[in-house]
Amino acid sequence: MNAPETLQKHGKIMLVGLGPGSNDHLTARARAAIAEADTIIGYVTYIRLVADLVEGKEVIKKSMTEELDRAIEALDRARQGKKVALISSGDAGIYGMAGPTFEVLFQAGWTPDSDIEVEIVPGASALNTCAALVGAPLTHDFCAISLSDLLTPWPTIARRLDAVAYADFVVALYNPKSGRRTQQIVEAQRLFLRHRDPQTPVAIVKSGYRPKQRIEFTTLDKMAEADIGMLSTVLIGNSNTFIKHGLMVTPRGYANKYAVEAGERNTHDGEQAGRSLSTGLNGWMASIQASGRSAAELAAEHRLPEDYIAAVLATEVPAEGEANEIEA
Ligand SMILES: C[S@@+](CC[C@H](N)C(=O)[O-])C[C@H]1O[C@@H](n2cnc3c(N)ncnc32)[C@H](O)[C@@H]1O
Repeated sequence: MNAPETLQKHGKIMLVGLGPGSNDHLTARARAAIAEADTIIGYVTYIRLVADLVEGKEVIKKSMTEELDRAIEALDRARQGKKVALISSGDAGIYGMAGPTFEVLFQAGWTPDSDIEVEIVPGASALNTCAALVGAPLTHDFCAISLSDLLTPWPTIARRLDAVAYADFVVALYNPKSGRRTQQIVEAQRLFLRHRDPQTPVAIVKSGYRPKQRIEFTTLDKMAEADIGMLSTVLIGNSNTFIKHGLMVTPRGYANKYAVEAGERNTHDGEQAGRSLSTGLNGWMASIQASGRSAAELAAEHRLPEDYIAAVLATEVPAEGEANEIEA
């Protein structure tokens, strides 16, 4: 019996993240992967970004909405023994081609042991490249949310926006607005304003690291009026984020532990270098247990679920280990 065609040849699919769109930010591995490929598949704009690297290769240009077609085409070529570079802007695993490609591969019965090799070549995503252009907005907890409702129901997106706004994350909004989707950013603003100060700093980076790059600083209450499009990433700060000298910065938290005066670094009373804060887990557990207050009162004060507080009140405070951590 003949072996199925998929097992006869050694094709390869490389999911290549191009970074934000400038040659300087294309990794050496991404460049080599494109050089190694027989076939390049991608959205027209991304192919244009690497036009100088694709000469002499088979180039398959697809429109934005043809992600599954791109993955199917890549699988077909790999089955013929070709090396295919499927290119995404930023990182292929962040709102990129990596997910749809694995879905198509799994549906076709592919496993990591089969003869088609798959390599994911990471790239710098819009979130950290745009952050680099505006300062240091992501130096504390952050998350990314796409406002595209092409494949995700709006209530799901709205619930996530509400949760992260409440939880005081720094947020990077991908796909914030397009010609057709103009209301989503207004709804995002509405949900954020329920929990956040209207003066919360916001940075909007349009076409970062591309010839038409544009950076705008604004505030949450004015965010929806800003010039935002398909190629913009919106960075919303947390309650500690500030803008100074044209730079958006989210503090790392050192002020909770140290007073920095005239170049000297002194710990606040009750705090120790290399140890959890006095309000860290153990200190906080001990203090709420000693407070004698009810789970309901503590839940309201700390904005945490009452059943969680009740469980913490019933847990023995663990002994703290040796101080061997780096504060970073
Ligand atoms: C489908 S997502 C692709 C994200 C990409 N895989 C990444 O990791 O950056 C497209 C969105 O990424 C963001 N984006 C991509 N490139 C950008 C750039 N150069 N400047 C600003 N935002 C960008 C925009 O929010 C855009 O709507």
